[in-house]
Amino acid sequence: MTVTRLCILGCGGFIGSHLLDRLLSEAGFEVIGIDTASTKIKCHLTSPGFSFVPLDIENSAAVRPFIQRCDMVVSLAALCNPSLYNTIPVRVIENNFSQPRAVVAMCSEYKKRLVHFSTCEVYGRTISGYAGRPSGGAIERFNEDCSPFVLGPIGAQRWTYACAKQLLERLIYAYGFERGLEFTIIRPFNFIGPRMDFIPGIDGEGVPRVIACFMEALLFQKPLKLVDGGKNRRTFTAIEDAINAIMAIIKKPDKAKGQVFNIGNPANETTIAGLAHRMRDIYQQLNPKSAGRTIDIVNVTSEEFYGQGYEDSDRRVPDISKAADLLGWKPAIDLDEALCSTMRSYIEDYGKFAAETKQQ
Ligand code: NAD
Ligand code: UGA
Repeated sequence: MTVTRLCILGCGGFIGSHLLDRLLSEAGFEVIGIDTASTKIKCHLTSPGFSFVPLDIENSAAVRPFIQRCDMVVSLAALCNPSLYNTIPVRVIENNFSQPRAVVAMCSEYKKRLVHFSTCEVYGRTISGYAGRPSGGAIERFNEDCSPFVLGPIGAQRWTYACAKQLLERLIYAYGFERGLEFTIIRPFNFIGPRMDFIPGIDGEGVPRVIACFMEALLFQKPLKLVDGGKNRRTFTAIEDAINAIMAIIKKPDKAKGQVFNIGNPANETTIAGLAHRMRDIYQQLNPKSAGRTIDIVNVTSEEFYGQGYEDSDRRVPDISKAADLLGWKPAIDLDEALCSTMRSYIEDYGKFAAETKQQ
């Protein structure tokens, strides 16, 4: 049997840990995982077919031999938490453009296939959300090959991440065009699942993405905070569906070659206010002991929550017809099911910390 040797950069993160679970459960893969963190993949550190290399990809000379040695590079390493985009923008640009740029050049030099994780944030905010345009019109689904990218002004540093990711996509495309790099670019739309981010004060510091923010509030009985009233919308995608898409991309190089794919679930759209209410209801069902205690849902301004320079994508719904046509992929898990399994795992992982806090 042919064995595919993968080098996964950012293997210790949320998506990396789930991808590793799947790859190591199937025959035909050997994985070198590179990351500065390994807590989320500790169950695999001694697994056959897997080697972990603790390394910062900023040290591109140290990354080089691992790229040389593999057949395919999966590039996930990134700072991808919105609370960082306007607070440490230099690191966000370096981490999402300057560092992976060296990886792209090495993949081209050694003729390795590159599967790179970009973001749905490259689309920016919808045209209707652009200042001066009429709002409330019909929404177009974002299409990989037609939709424009609408970012905010330079002072709105929220867009450092989207802009760095966009420039890297353009660089990858250019290497494909001029130097024959074989690549696939993935634009994830809000994947959710177990092991996403951290709970502040327990296994991380700062502000995580929205699911972990709301779980912290529910577990520790604090108010759920709706940034700018929670009017903005997201389409959330179950990590299991996402991993199916990534596996199809890994296994179908001819179909995926030179393509950009939206990976998301257009049926799972909700406002963030709607998400907060759903999560509060599901939490009471999963945790009957909490029934009767109503946790508040309150409004905060984006400046209070994230600081100056934060702007938001108002709405982003993917057109996933390309992934369906070329990869035969469609998401199957609805929002309530994805939230239930995600929230159950947070309760298992963090519930004891919440119980200890209550006793103190
Ligand atoms: P994550 O933060 O959970 O994982 C990223 C991993 O990269 C972390 O383990 C981190 O330690 C590692 N890393 C960061 N900088 C590094 C460096 N310099 N050297 C070595 N390791 C480094 O994020 P995730 O949710 O798993 O996202 C993975 C990728 O997918 C990112 O590129 C992100 O931009 C993209 N993405 C994710 C989502 C999503 O829904 N989760 C959405 C859009 C885009
Ligand atoms: C995320 C991140 O940029 C990346 O991880 C990724 O590229 C991409 O989107 C994605 O997951 O597809 P965003 O969706 O804004 O960006 O990230 P969240 O932090 O999960 O925020 C979602 C929404 O919830 C935003 O409108 C935010 O303002 C809001 N929010 C967040 C709240 O209302 N309350 C909170 O406590 C936290």
